[in-house]
Amino acid sequence: MCGIVGYAGARDSASIIMAGLARLEYRGYDSAGIATVGEHGLAMRKKSGKLAALHESLADAPLPAAPTGIGHTRWATHGAPTDENAHPHLADSGRLALIHNGIIENYGELRRELESDGVAFASETDSEVAAALIGREYERTGDLEQAFRAVLPRLEGAFTLLAVHANQPGIIVAARRNSPLVIGLGDGENYLGSDVAAFVEHTRRAVAIGQDNIVTVTPASVTITDFAGTAVAAEPFDVSWDAAAADKGGWPSFMAKEVAEEPEAVANTLRGRVRGEVGSGVGRGVGAVGGGAGGGGGVGGEVHIPELDGHDDLFVDAERIVIVACGTASYAALVGKYALENWARIPVDVELAHEFRYRDPIIGPRTLVVSISQSGETMDTLMAVRFAREKGARTLAICNTQGATIPRESDAVIYTHAGPEVAVASTKAFVAQITALMLVALHTGRLRGTLDPQTGRLETAALQDIPDHIATVLAQETDRITELAHWMADTRSVLFLGRHVGYPIALEGALKLKEISYIHAEGFAAGELKHGPIALIEPGQPVFVIVPSPRHSALLHAKVVSNIQEIRARGARVIAIAEEGDAAVLPHADEVIRIPLTTALLEPLLTVVPLQIFAMALATAKGLDVDQPRNLAKSVTVE
Ligand code: G6P
Repeated sequence: MCGIVGYAGARDSASIIMAGLARLEYRGYDSAGIATVGEHGLAMRKKSGKLAALHESLADAPLPAAPTGIGHTRWATHGAPTDENAHPHLADSGRLALIHNGIIENYGELRRELESDGVAFASETDSEVAAALIGREYERTGDLEQAFRAVLPRLEGAFTLLAVHANQPGIIVAARRNSPLVIGLGDGENYLGSDVAAFVEHTRRAVAIGQDNIVTVTPASVTITDFAGTAVAAEPFDVSWDAAAADKGGWPSFMAKEVAEEPEAVANTLRGRVRGEVGSGVGRGVGAVGGGAGGGGGVGGEVHIPELDGHDDLFVDAERIVIVACGTASYAALVGKYALENWARIPVDVELAHEFRYRDPIIGPRTLVVSISQSGETMDTLMAVRFAREKGARTLAICNTQGATIPRESDAVIYTHAGPEVAVASTKAFVAQITALMLVALHTGRLRGTLDPQTGRLETAALQDIPDHIATVLAQETDRITELAHWMADTRSVLFLGRHVGYPIALEGALKLKEISYIHAEGFAAGELKHGPIALIEPGQPVFVIVPSPRHSALLHAKVVSNIQEIRARGARVIAIAEEGDAAVLPHADEVIRIPLTTALLEPLLTVVPLQIFAMALATAKGLDVDQPRNLAKSVTVE
């Protein structure tokens, strides 16, 4: 949360920084600001509200042209989203400007110390304390990098800091601890950003900055050192997507675009990770729940994940897997648990990352801790990974963002190739995460000898058919779901029910609705209904029910149909999500949304799609901003 951009070059920095902030606005959007340094000295402008407010202010009264600058888009932690609390913060009599992402935990104590020395503060933020300290050191040393080096050891918590000084034009000094920072390498110009989206329209050559490093950037040079001043080597990497991938491209919202990109997100996550025959698995998974063998022989290739070559021990030696994640990623993790336990016969626990390390969990060298994070920067997840490593556990990251902190700090990484996800509510990253987990589960099952090869091939083939199946759901169901959402625009509460792998999807369906349409929504395990939630059912209550395939388990299917009857008898309005050809559900549902046939464990990749479309359509019907819902930020880099 909070987006940060820096530019040092020869062009006018303000327009480059504003374009970078627009791409980072998903990280926070309650206020924004910019500071530039040129011949005129330092100029600064900041405004509460979305970036558009700052744009307007700059259009009315542009800053003087200047080739160096920094910009910030804020998600408030300390102090309300006012003009004063917006970044940059000034120090050294207005000659130094600083922006910050993170939380300085000991800011109270530092602020008291500075106040007793006569420093006056203009904001309520923790960030201004860093500006004041660095400003004071600058007055002593006359050098921004030296001032950073003197102050950083005093700061506790998480920070990415960028600063410019009127007396050092052409230089940006930055530092990071626990918050993200990436450098973009240009020709005669260099960039800084919270992630590569900040500068990808100018350069796709990037360098990720390690923990506790200081970077000094000029148009011609990038110098990275640790806090003590020792040079640090860093390997540049090429960003695998271009600026067009992070544009709306004619769609009404990023979320609409990202849902439409789901077939591609799954296909790209599979690409290069299946070897051998590429077969069609449509409807071939006819085994029991858990994907028992069956169907035609000889289809499908074998999962081979090149990034995991040399890491067999992670999967073979593990006695247990713990998956840590937050939000949507934690629901992908729950789906993964079913697949891993089924195919790899290994116990799997799913933990909310923020709960994990505070309860002294029992983990050690034979625990594989798998983290799932779209951004790779979620602080709760990062801290869980660090904690796991301290306890000697092995770590695997499933991540969508190249060069992010979590994969950098893990033993191994599998990138989901969903492309940049901009809308705050996660959609295409979710299906890509489940796809990656399915690959890991098939890989682990094969390595541990627990997965019958025929089942492995069938499931792999079925996985390869998922992109086409998602495209079918999008083509066939979008209009009807949109219509349904329009009817329901005044609904005050929606419930979601599922069993087996349908349960995490019920949770995700409810989360999507809460996040973007601000409607009360809850997801339940269908079997739990009679233990309490059924009391919520009153006439007209809309309930989405994810119906498992009767081909995979007649028993599970029958149980869910009987749950539907129980709520229908009490007046619920039932919208069933059921597979094509499931006629048994028809008499019991008010609406039936169809998904194509796949295997039992892969159904979540299809059943979630109508729920994402529904949340988006309902929020749109209510006139809400689906990409930037209130109070949220996409990348939560504070605990
Ligand atoms: C925030 C976002 C959610 C996301 C969660 C985890 O809460 O609003 O959409 O699921 O963080 O993010 P991550 O980047 O770790 O997947």
